[in-house]
Amino acid sequence: MAAPKGFHYYEGVLFYDLLFPVPSLEAVKEFQVREDDVFLATYPKSGTTWTAEILSLIRNSDDIDSIDKVPLLKRVPCIELVNPEENCIPELKLLETMGSPRYIRTHLIKRLLPCEIFTAKPKVVYVARNPKDVLISYYEFKLHPWSWEEYFDNFLKGNVCYGSWFENVEYWWEHRNDDNVLFVFYEDMIRDLKGHVRKIADFLNKPLDEATLNEITRRSSFDVMKENPNANFKAPFGDGLRLLRRGKPGIWKSRLTEAENEAIEKAFSRRMQEIKIEFSFYS
Ligand code: A3P
Repeated sequence: MAAPKGFHYYEGVLFYDLLFPVPSLEAVKEFQVREDDVFLATYPKSGTTWTAEILSLIRNSDDIDSIDKVPLLKRVPCIELVNPEENCIPELKLLETMGSPRYIRTHLIKRLLPCEIFTAKPKVVYVARNPKDVLISYYEFKLHPWSWEEYFDNFLKGNVCYGSWFENVEYWWEHRNDDNVLFVFYEDMIRDLKGHVRKIADFLNKPLDEATLNEITRRSSFDVMKENPNANFKAPFGDGLRLLRRGKPGIWKSRLTEAENEAIEKAFSRRMQEIKIEFSFYS
């Protein structure tokens, strides 16, 4: 199958040329993972920016103000990204020079991740979001060249940038009880942000006092992050859409037709039942 203009396939997965050239995807596999790295793994539009901000605030909880002016992508770089707004230097190069502990984000499916993740076993925080809302959010993000109908079909087939939503979630869900993995749901974070900040901090062995916990919860709330240009940055493509948009669960209910909803149920629900994963706001 030919990739749309401006995109390519890497090991059967679609990627945007400008941000994810083949040499950089190849280099990711050879990346030297440190045992004290912390990975944030997600499918796009699942709350990555949100969780990256939480992780970064926890990492720097002794001196939160010190990170105020540092862009989030510099604090929690994306391992597979080549950012055209940063002279096209692969983020991976930045990571190689970073002191420990490094906080690293990725949207890659299991087979494209650094091989050493599975031997060094760094901590991994995985965030999953209801696929129906992911589908809407990803469509609006415009990292695709299609009309709604074309995009919808391609999303269900896993033929969008970064590949299949299900394949991405499935691996980490199966490993959710591993000691080095914390699996959380976007919808649960919406329901109880403070509880999740605490949970993530405990997982990182960085327990927080009440005042710091409250401050990190405040800074990672939707309203505060939306006004923070270092967290709510512009996407480095297209019209430069911002990362924070609505931040609400269940948006699909007012956006999908009954037929579209049924098509998603057909594409995902049986497989979701097989692995016993359930999402709030799914039906
Ligand atoms: P919407 O497009 O539905 O608004 P990612 O960072 O993985 O690209 O995910 C982006 C989605 O997370 C967007 O969803 C964005 O609004 C939402 N988001 C980002 N920060 C958030 C926050 N602090 N609280 C709730 N949702 C947030």
